[in-house]
Amino acid sequence: MQIIEALNWRYDTKRMNGNKIPTEKLDCILEAIRLAPSAMGLQPYTIIVIENIELMKKIQPIANLQQEITEASVLLVFASWNKITPERINEHLKRISLVRDMNENSLKLTREKMEMLLNNTVEENFIWSAKQAYLALGIGMTAAALEKVDTTPIDHFNNADLDEVLQLKERGLRSILLLSLGYRDTAKDLTIANKKVRREREKLFITLQSTIGFNATNINNKGSITL
Ligand SMILES: Cc1cc2nc3c(=O)[nH]c(=O)nc-3n(C[C@H](O)[C@H](O)[C@H](O)COP(=O)(O)O)c2cc1C
Repeated sequence: MQIIEALNWRYDTKRMNGNKIPTEKLDCILEAIRLAPSAMGLQPYTIIVIENIELMKKIQPIANLQQEITEASVLLVFASWNKITPERINEHLKRISLVRDMNENSLKLTREKMEMLLNNTVEENFIWSAKQAYLALGIGMTAAALEKVDTTPIDHFNNADLDEVLQLKERGLRSILLLSLGYRDTAKDLTIANKKVRREREKLFITLQSTIGFNATNINNKGSITL
């Protein structure tokens, strides 16, 4: 499938039929998530892959009883690092030096840039890490659509309860997002016929034809921009 066709095909699937995703398709989606770019390449998150139905049943009440959680083939939990630590930075620098066959001393500037994160508060770094996780989610959802696998992203759930069920604190993680992966139940999903609602192109994109910058005089009191 071409990408635009795939993105029109995908929708927020509310009911799934429990069918299993073939291993090679799941591998492809997970690999796309692994290849997602992140700031400084740190990938400050871990993705927990759940296929166990009993565990899915435990998670469902934590996420407003959304049915697709137990009807999915796989449930991914995107969890951010709870802290950026010198150990986590060192591990990544080691990885770069190994993969690129570089002496760690030649990564001095990279190290300095990464270590600037250590000056932020834990909460600032957690928010920054969560942003990176959302990007990986988007890439995973796009890859899934190209593989004709349905997805339901969920960020409205009780994070503290999920962290406890999955013992994320002990693993140095905090939950951010869930992603159900599976196949739509065309008979049960009443939202399937809903047309896609997106902001119009001319509202979503502003094309600047000149070097006019945004300044206080071209932002009107409703916050929209007039050029
Ligand atoms: C990051 C993210 C989090 C979302 N969280 C929820 C959620 O907690 N509950 C829910 O019902 N839908 C959730 N959605 C689904 C959106 O409401 C849905 O994607 C959006 O309305 C666009 O519809 P479409 O995906 O069918 O095109 C989420 C979507 C994204 C991208």
